Amino acid sequence: MRILAIETSCDETGISLIETTGVFPDLSYKVLGNALQSQIDVHKEYGGVFPALAKREHGKNMVPVLMQALSQAHLMTPALKPSITQEQLGEIKIILEREPELFVQLALFFAQYEKPPIDAIAVTVGPGLEPALWVGINTARALAYAWSVPVIAVNHMEGHIAAALVESEQSTKYKIQDVQFPAVVLLVSGGHTELLLMKNWFEYELLGETRDDAAGEAFDKSARMMGLPYPGGPEISKLAHEARIQGVSLDTRLPRPMLHSGNLDFSYSGLKNAVRLLLEAMGAPTAEQKKLVAREVEDAIVETLIAKARRALQEHGARTLIVSGGVSANAHLKTELTAMAHTTDTALLISTPQLATDNGLMIALAGALRASKNEYTPPETLSASGNMRLA
Ligand code: KG4
Ligand code: ZN
Repeated sequence: MRILAIETSCDETGISLIETTGVFPDLSYKVLGNALQSQIDVHKEYGGVFPALAKREHGKNMVPVLMQALSQAHLMTPALKPSITQEQLGEIKIILEREPELFVQLALFFAQYEKPPIDAIAVTVGPGLEPALWVGINTARALAYAWSVPVIAVNHMEGHIAAALVESEQSTKYKIQDVQFPAVVLLVSGGHTELLLMKNWFEYELLGETRDDAAGEAFDKSARMMGLPYPGGPEISKLAHEARIQGVSLDTRLPRPMLHSGNLDFSYSGLKNAVRLLLEAMGAPTAEQKKLVAREVEDAIVETLIAKARRALQEHGARTLIVSGGVSANAHLKTELTAMAHTTDTALLISTPQLATDNGLMIALAGALRASKNEYTPPETLSASGNMRLA
């Protein structure tokens, strides 16, 4: 089965095309095309993602990214005559009435290229920025209509989980890993910090979550206060790594919020405030001081994530830990998780850094899982759900 997936929940326009074989849960796949256009440079000057701007950029980038993914897959066949009728084009214009620029580009695409051999379209419907999500949804509706294929609505967080389950079978063929349930899932991104219990495929129970800022947000906001560019996670990680190599650390300890709270919740706004006070006390921190602060910030975030994940595993007798989301690209977190998994005899499933941050492939994978259950959504009922939850 060939699935084309669209991701636009935040600041990455991602389109992926996979071909699956096998019967769920014994599912293998090949990546036929995988294209990603980041908006990071556009949002950098705002120090974070600006929703109206994200929507506009997704609209502008969608067709070029689509064409890139299709041409990687060698599925761009020039058409002798337009691949859709004038009447169909009229319908598509209505579907894309909020995205006029995208409509013009897509109309040109339909005029020039054949319908590619695709069986379904997967699209992120939430959680995320609703104006941004709608661009992906409307594109999915337009393509599904033009190509007469069904749509799979994907939860972005399930996409992150699917990205952590990838196992290499051969150099170009991958497999969805076997998971021993119950598994604990730690999702750490720019908008989420949550622990879930996965009792079986598609069965989630919320164990704990952040009461305020997400872990990625704590990285981003700390970085911003230190004058580092957005997104702050990789920047802080780089400086922290240098400090660790040099064997230097700050003599002030930042708080590890809720470390001993006795539950599985997190809180990072206190850490952010402590970082602000620390930086104010330093006046204009030197490059050396910034390294020390970065290391301490990273340690505080990583320690709290590890402690709660370990507690969740113990409380629920789980022997599998699945970790995903942008923050799971953090090398120090991965090192510490690996050590914890080793001492607790836990199987650690974590996405590669490339698949940890938002991308289209993770949506294709989650789409493949849902398609195996025949979970299709009528295109006209698709809707963006900014606060969509897994549990
Ligand atoms: O999953 P993601 O790409 O987007 C959301 O769905 O939010 O996560 C983005 C977040 C940002 O906060 C970013 O700073 C953080 O992931 N991040 C990192 C690293 N790479 C990305 N945080 C720490 N270390 C990293 N290497
Ligand atoms: Zn994400």
